[in-house]
Amino acid sequence: MLEKHAKLERNSMWLLIFTVIAVSIGGIIEIVPLFRMQTTIEPVKGVRPYTPLELMGQEIYIREGCNTCHSQQIRPLRDEQQRYGHYSLAAESMYDHPFLWGSKRTGPDLARVGGKYSDDWHVAHLKNPRAVVPESIMPSYAFLADKPYGDWRINKRLKALKTLGVPYTKEMIAEAAIDYEAQANPTADASGLLERYGDKVAVRDFDGNPNEITEMDALIAYLQKLGTDVDFTTYDPDYAIKKAPKTAPGHMEKAK
Ligand code: HEC
Repeated sequence: MLEKHAKLERNSMWLLIFTVIAVSIGGIIEIVPLFRMQTTIEPVKGVRPYTPLELMGQEIYIREGCNTCHSQQIRPLRDEQQRYGHYSLAAESMYDHPFLWGSKRTGPDLARVGGKYSDDWHVAHLKNPRAVVPESIMPSYAFLADKPYGDWRINKRLKALKTLGVPYTKEMIAEAAIDYEAQANPTADASGLLERYGDKVAVRDFDGNPNEITEMDALIAYLQKLGTDVDFTTYDPDYAIKKAPKTAPGHMEKAK
C-alpha cells in the first residue's frame, strides 16, 4: 500500500487527480445534506413574521440608513449581554430580508430595543435626539411624523417575501393593507390582524397623532417589536433537539 502511495507521490498528474477525488468526496459529504434541508436555523417558539406596519417600519429603517449606525446582533459575550440582554438567536432574524445585523455601532445595538422605551420617548428621540440624550450625535428624523402612509403596495411586498420563504399566508397577503391600517388606528377593528399575527402584536397609535398613519407610526411599531418575539423566561435552548426528529433543525415544515 505504502509503495503504491510512494508511486503516486512521485507522479504529479496522478497525485493531482486523486487529490481532486478525495476533496470531492469530502465536499459532497459536507455540502449535499445542506441541499436537502429547508433551513439550517433551529425553530424557536414565538418568532413570527412582521406585520405589514412593522414591515414598512423596517423599510423606512433601511431607507434612512439606521443600520449604518446601529447593529442588530447581540453577541454571546458577558458585557454585551449585561448591556443589551440575551444574545441574539438565529431564528430571531430569520424573516429579515435583508438581514440587518450590521457591523458598526456608532449608536447602541437595537436587537432588543422593543419595549425598552415608551412610544413617546421614541417620538421625542426621533424628532430631536438631543432633547432626550443631550450628548447624542444621532440625526433628527422629525420629518417622518409629517409623512403620511403612501402607496406602499404592501401586498406585493408580502408576496415577494413569501417567495423568499417567509410564511405569509394568502389571507395575510390579501388583507395586508387592512392590517396595516388596523395596527396604528385605534378606532379600527384589529381582530383580523391579531388572529393572523398573534395577540402579542402591539395595536395602538404609535406616534401620538391618531388622525393619520405616518411613517413615524411604522418605524416605532418596528422598533417596539425588535427582540420581543421570544419569551426568555420560558425559552428552552434544547427545544429543537428534544423534539427531534420531528422538529430537527432544518425541518421547519414539519415543525408546524
Ligand atoms: C449617525 C449615526 C446614527 C444614525 C444614522 C442613527 N442613529 Fe440612532 N443612535 C445613534 C447614537 C449615537 C445613539 C446614542 C445616543 C442617543 O440615544 O441618541 C443612538 C440611539 C438610538 C436609540 C436608543 C437606543 C438605546 O438603547 O438607548 C434608538 C431607538 C435609535 N437610535 C434609533 C435610530 C433609528 C430608528 C434610526 C434611523 C431612523 C437611527 N437611530 C439612526 C446614532 C445614529
